[in-house]
This record gives sequence, C-alpha cells and structure tokens, in this order.
Amino acid sequence: MIVVSTVSDLRREIQNVRRASKRVGFVPTMGNLHAGHLKLIDVVRERADFTVASIYVNPLQFGPQEDFASYPRTPEEDRQALTEAGADLLFMPTTEEMYPRGMHAQTVVEVPELSNILCGAFRPGHFRGVTTVVNHLFNLTHPDVAVFGKKDYQQLLLIRLMVSDLGMPIDIVGVDTLRERDGLALSSRNRYLRPDERELAPALHAVLREAQGKLMRGGAVFPAIEASAAEQLRKAGFRPDYVSIVRQQDLGKPSAEDRRLAVLAAAWLGRTRLIDNVEVEIP
Ligand code: PAJ
Repeated sequence: MIVVSTVSDLRREIQNVRRASKRVGFVPTMGNLHAGHLKLIDVVRERADFTVASIYVNPLQFGPQEDFASYPRTPEEDRQALTEAGADLLFMPTTEEMYPRGMHAQTVVEVPELSNILCGAFRPGHFRGVTTVVNHLFNLTHPDVAVFGKKDYQQLLLIRLMVSDLGMPIDIVGVDTLRERDGLALSSRNRYLRPDERELAPALHAVLREAQGKLMRGGAVFPAIEASAAEQLRKAGFRPDYVSIVRQQDLGKPSAEDRRLAVLAAAWLGRTRLIDNVEVEIP
C-alpha cells in the first residue's frame, strides 16, 4: 500500500492510476479503524480497480466543546489494517495540507436545511464541516465510486445530495451497519464507554428494533412510538438527543402512506454520544 500525506503526492499517484484507465474507489475515514470501516474497503474493492482510503480527523466538523482533541488516533494499527484489507493507497494529510489558508478561511460546501435537522440541530456546523471536507477529498482523489456507512444515515444522504446538486460524477454506495454480537453499532467512539456503560449500550439498538416492530405491525402513531422509545432510553440510563421516525429518501416527517421509513436516534451515555438507526420497509 502506498502512503502519502501531501496533496501533490496524492495527485501524482491518482494521475498514474487514471492514465492506466483504472476505476478509482474511495473510502474517507477519520481513522481508528474497526471492522465496519474495513467492510467499506471490501465493498469498494468489488467496485473499483484501485482503492483509496483517507484518514483525517477533520477539525472543521467538531464543535468547540466536542472531542476533537481526544478523538482516538491509531495510525500504525490503521495502516496495518488497511494493508491487510487490500487498500492500494492511503492519504493521511495534515491540517496544514487540507486547510493551508487556515480552517476558518476555508471555502465551504453546505447542503442547506437537511444539515440543520436531527444531528445537525444538536451539532451546529458539523455537517458543513463534513460536506466541506468530503468535497475537498473528492476533488483530490477523483473517485468513480465512494462508499459510506449507513450508521451515519444523515451524513450518507447529505453526501448523496451534495454529489447530485453539484453534478459530481461519483457513484455513492451505502453499506449496512456492522454491529457487535449484542447489537451495538461498531464505532470509534465506543472506546470512550466505561465497562458499566458498555453493558448498557446495546439498549440503543434494542429500543430502535422495538420501534421498528411497532411500525411494521402498524396502528400506532409515530409521535407515540418516538416518545416511548425516548422514554425507554432514559430508563436504560441514556440521555437522548432525539428519536425520530423519518422518510428514508429525505429524512422528512412521514405521512401514514409512506412505506420506506427509518428510525434515527442519538443519545448520550455518560460522556459518550452514540448514534444508531434502523430502516423500516412497511409491507
Ligand atoms: P468515520 O466516523 O471514521 O467513518 C468513516 C466511514 O465509516 C463512514 O462512512 C461511516 O458511516 C462508516 N462506518 C462507521 N461505523 C460503521 C459501522 N459500524 N458499519 C459500517 N460503516 C461504518 O464518518 C466519518 O468518519 C467522517 O465524517 C468522514 C466522512 C470521514 C468525513 O470526515
């Protein structure tokens, strides 16, 4: 695996690959890789001839009180894991390389409205930071296909909208969430959980599954399902930011006729903010 950390080295490598008419696949990450990230690498390898991964803990998507400084950084292990997973190139830029004029002077890309609901309402500026860095990484990497996890459901939709709004010729692929045996979605932030919190954490997925069951059975009204799920989370020791039943295609409020739904939740367990979701296809 080739490892580069500068924009000029990345451009040179990508140019060589493009000259050989290879299809480029891309998986952006913030590192501290787990099996969920590596599943994205597997998916991209099936769809491309040359697999690029990036590791960059993007300061632009963290709020001032958030965990940018303490976000786990494990570059050696990540390199090893990506090599074993069969990635061809790893881009690990510094912030000077990504935002040479300074983070606050950086041109931004923002998908309005949808960036400010759900997680965006609780993390102002977060999704602007995500779309800005992903747009930048796309411009540097020129992928034909890029793969994202459905665990970050709102992020995936925002990337799809950005690509469509700006006419980027990139195929965006969403991959199902990889989970621990007890249902907890794999996440780099799980390592913040104390042992007692780790025991409680699977309740988030369990509560979402229960809401999914209620939606499949029909009859119950959406706000009642949301309220009862939030209450169950509180009883299990969480402080929920939100539990929302939304339409899959635009994360809008569904009507009784909508069939393709998702239940999205974000909840705090001590100092750790967990997110999860389940899709619901009503027969
Ligand atoms: P990060 O949290 O490192 O996630 C990188 C990719 O891995 C995202 O597409 C995410 O949805 C996916 N992922 C995380 N956990 C997963 C799991 N359990 N199963 C399947 N996929 C999973 O998301 C980001 O980084 C950043 O916002 C980024 C897009 C890199 C922009 O900075």
